[in-house]
Amino acid sequence: MKFESQRVAWWFFLTCMVLFGLQLVYGLIMAYAHTGNDFLHDVIPFHVARATHINLLVMWLLAGFMGAAYFIVPEEADRELYWPRLAYVQLVALIVVGVVAIIGFHFQWWEGRKFLEIPRPLDYLVVVDVLLFIANIGMTIWKGKRFTTTSLVLFFGLLMAALLYLPGMIPTDNQTIDSYWRWWVVHLWVEGTWELILGAILSFLLIKLTGIDREVVEKWLYVIVGFAFLSGILGTGHHYYYIGAPRYWLMIGGIFSAFEPVAFLIMAIYAVRVARRSGRAHPNRIAMSWTVGCAVMAFVGAGFLGFAHTLPQVNMYTHGTLVTATHGHLAFWGAYAMLVLAMISYVLPLVTGRKRHETPSAVFAFWASNVGMVAMTIAFGIAGVSQVVLERRLGLDFLTVQQEIEVHFWGLLLAGTLFISGITAFIWNFARHGRPVAEVTRGATTAAPEEPVHQAAA
Ligand code: HEM
Ligand code: HEM
Ligand SMILES: [Fe+2]
Repeated sequence: MKFESQRVAWWFFLTCMVLFGLQLVYGLIMAYAHTGNDFLHDVIPFHVARATHINLLVMWLLAGFMGAAYFIVPEEADRELYWPRLAYVQLVALIVVGVVAIIGFHFQWWEGRKFLEIPRPLDYLVVVDVLLFIANIGMTIWKGKRFTTTSLVLFFGLLMAALLYLPGMIPTDNQTIDSYWRWWVVHLWVEGTWELILGAILSFLLIKLTGIDREVVEKWLYVIVGFAFLSGILGTGHHYYYIGAPRYWLMIGGIFSAFEPVAFLIMAIYAVRVARRSGRAHPNRIAMSWTVGCAVMAFVGAGFLGFAHTLPQVNMYTHGTLVTATHGHLAFWGAYAMLVLAMISYVLPLVTGRKRHETPSAVFAFWASNVGMVAMTIAFGIAGVSQVVLERRLGLDFLTVQQEIEVHFWGLLLAGTLFISGITAFIWNFARHGRPVAEVTRGATTAAPEEPVHQAAA
């Protein structure tokens, strides 16, 4: 860590750990309700648990991206953050808005639109908060000593993600039009702007962890960004098939979204190749596992499982079923959750000065969470395909089918337990690193792969 202000990243990552833990509690509540034992129904009905689960997810991922940006941008621009204290204010504001939203859900204060449940007055606060963040990193880059492709791609990804929050706020009473705009946010985030953030953070990590030439990595970043945009923008059409939008979307959405996996495939192949070639260059191998794991699992969850239901002929049967949840879990996990966990694994020893990353519990965290998530995906997948056959092919009633598939949620709970044991180990490691210390900035550098990690007293 070169600059004092980079330390704020740790506080964002701490927020991630707390919100992530809480997100999983709501996942368990829902999984248990799906087994037919919805004993919490009167206190936390399913829709409340669902809104809380997915909004906590988005919130901790955004906190993770912000923390990552506050660490990466000073390093890339070679200067302190432009407004270091604003970063703390902005974190506190984000937490306050988030907590109010989550409590509000439990009192039926929500908008009822998947992923955009946060009520309108809070939306404005989110916008202000994110603009402050963008201004801070924007000024840091602008006043910095150098512009790098990595920091610019990261900046534009974050800026466009912020701007694309706005279409979700367009008021309308029309269900189709509301859906139309909702997808500008949800789809153009995860399959557009967030992909830029993903590409940029992966580039940063690969440069730091392998010592490979920046030019080589950044050349690939252009290719990935190009592919993501070419396919992702018109690929939005894969959500317009059956919502009442014009029929031409069947063709446009089908063709363009079918190419979306290419960007993820290039990322995966590239990350694996770079890691292979560099061998064991960097002492923080666990960060390398998360980085390469992220690129690979993003391809499996987003690219492969996304493709599996993206053609209109398939989506006609799978739309809005547990097949969607199957893909949703592995895609979010691989592409974005693992990305944030990779960044945290890389940053922790640097900001705390304590080299406690290469432990059996850190390795356990990686494998248990990944194997657990794959098992969860399989459980969701079996439930989803059964649902499609019974409900959409045989025409059984929705609730009859939900009862038929209850058994698969015992499998989900089992897999989820393994997953949670991995995440508990990750959070335990986070705690063991302790709080950031001031001395680590002195003389330490993250530039070279053989960097000595400053060893402070425990
Ligand atoms: C990292 C990237 C991705 C993430 C995090 C992600 C996540 C999700 C989530 C959470 C949903 C449900 C959204 C909702 O109903 O509100 C969804 C739906 C969908 N995704 Fe993805 N996805 C990603 C990439 C992709 C890709 C690359 C494809 C296609 C090749 C794809 C195809 C689809 C389709 C067709 C649906 C609609 C399912 C339905 O009709 O119910 N996704 N995705
Ligand atoms: C123990 C861990 C977890 C359990 C038991 C769990 C369970 C569930 C359940 C039961 C649902 C509702 C499905 C339905 O609509 O019927 C759900 C939704 C969702 N969860 Fe999880 N979850 C867990 C962890 C995660 C993680 C780690 C992520 C992201 C990385 C995640 C992302 C999502 C998303 C995006 C949805 C919405 C899916 C959709 O749009 O259809 N969950 N989860
Ligand atoms: Fe999409």
